[in-house]
Amino acid sequence: MENNRSSFGSNFGFLMAAIGSAVGLGNIWGFPYKMGRSGGFTFLLVYLLLAVFVGLIIMVSELALGRMTRMSPIDAYQAVSKKYKWIGWLAIAAPFLVMTFYAVLGGYVLQYMSLNLAELSFDLSNIYGQQITGAATFSAMLANPFGCFFFTLLFMLICMVIVMGGVSGGIERFNKIGMPALAAMLVVVIVRSLTLPNAAEGLKFMFVPGYAIKGGFIDQAPDLISVLGTAGGQMFFSLSLAMGAILTYGSYLGREENLVNNSITIVFADTVIAIMAGIAVIPAAVANGINNGIPVNEIALNGPKLLFVTLQDVFSHMGHAGPLFGLIFYLLVLLAAISSAISLMEAIGAHWIDKDLQAGKGDNRKKITINVSILITAAALIVAVDGLGSNHIHPAALLGIQGSVPDFIADWLDFMDCWSEGIAMPLGAMLMALMIGWERSPKLILDEVGHGNHSSFFAKFYTLCIRYVAPVVMAFVLAGQMIGFFGGPDILWYALSFAALAGFAFFTINGREKEE
Ligand code: PFF
Repeated sequence: MENNRSSFGSNFGFLMAAIGSAVGLGNIWGFPYKMGRSGGFTFLLVYLLLAVFVGLIIMVSELALGRMTRMSPIDAYQAVSKKYKWIGWLAIAAPFLVMTFYAVLGGYVLQYMSLNLAELSFDLSNIYGQQITGAATFSAMLANPFGCFFFTLLFMLICMVIVMGGVSGGIERFNKIGMPALAAMLVVVIVRSLTLPNAAEGLKFMFVPGYAIKGGFIDQAPDLISVLGTAGGQMFFSLSLAMGAILTYGSYLGREENLVNNSITIVFADTVIAIMAGIAVIPAAVANGINNGIPVNEIALNGPKLLFVTLQDVFSHMGHAGPLFGLIFYLLVLLAAISSAISLMEAIGAHWIDKDLQAGKGDNRKKITINVSILITAAALIVAVDGLGSNHIHPAALLGIQGSVPDFIADWLDFMDCWSEGIAMPLGAMLMALMIGWERSPKLILDEVGHGNHSSFFAKFYTLCIRYVAPVVMAFVLAGQMIGFFGGPDILWYALSFAALAGFAFFTINGREKEE
């Protein structure tokens, strides 16, 4: 089976694919705002510390598990763990759930690209006789379930064709062109953004400690504990960890490649792109708000509204060049979304592709990818039609719950996000750390990393982090996510997360057979 299993053509190609997976919507619409709100450099510092002590460690572990077993997530976990055989299923369910909303968001991006393209060609404001606001465009789009589903389908078709092309012929080839193109377009948008009058206010929001409050963007800074949860959750999602994607890509990587250096490169590139994305979008959004008399605390700088309301307004106010910059920007976002989505789809399909290869049924990648795409699209239908809760079919409405409801039932996107990014991701990472650190041994990974000759510093650092730091940090992230999605008293969610950690730690250590 080893011989006909796919692999990347080069280490550069692997890096572009892994960075492509990491760089996605999360970088553009989450990181910059969270950074600004949480005190700029304070957030960046916490983020970087977590990225080094936990993100990097989990990245190395996933790549090593994949490469060592040369298997997809489900089989990889079954091969290495008695107690945690089933984590692999989390690493199939989570990417599936993420795809149900990622595909819809990809569809929105396609719609905005088309819109800017149409404006570039026809000057639509002349036809309508007035400037169309981002808010009006967004709500009109959401209120059109048919259009949203159509573009979701289109996004899925693009991703499907790429994944059907294979690991090196599809995924690698797309990323080798797409990622450098994305970086170049980002630079163009940054130059335009920073040359708008009042752009400095946005830069201050992102980088000057305390400016988010002093400048009137927010009323109250978050406390350090919640920064830890937010930064950890953002870092994990942004690095595509604990979703099977990185493990799957690792399983296609050559034995001779350096896992630690590769992981450092991926974490570094993802963080740099997140900061660059911030410099591209926040100053423009803030400047445009100020220049049009909008109070800064009313400018949406986070989530879908940043991308589809605030930034569309920026382009609309830019005059003739606006649609051109709009087109470049949404194309850049589209590349980021596709390169992440294909890694999620690969993580899901790889299991069945491998199964058929093992059974001697040959390479059924095309058929399996089509089936995976159909399933995702079917589940994405509800998210697309829901229109972020605006069409009254959100979970709370279906359950007949009225008034203000917790986020996870407020719309179908949040519902899917809650179980994947909210629960499966931090829990999966926590259990993976316990499995490697305590059920098996850190040596399992270290041997794969260094083929027996890793540096002793890295070995100590890795052991410390995988055994102690990662599980505890993941408990904070889990609590932070539950606070965000479920609401209610924070203390309840902290208690539950740490109880889960204690329970699983006991389960792992109890009755363990010593490895060496
Ligand atoms: N890292 C992507 C982002 O920042 O948008 C999202 C993602 C992709 C998460 C792939 C997980 C994954 F496996």
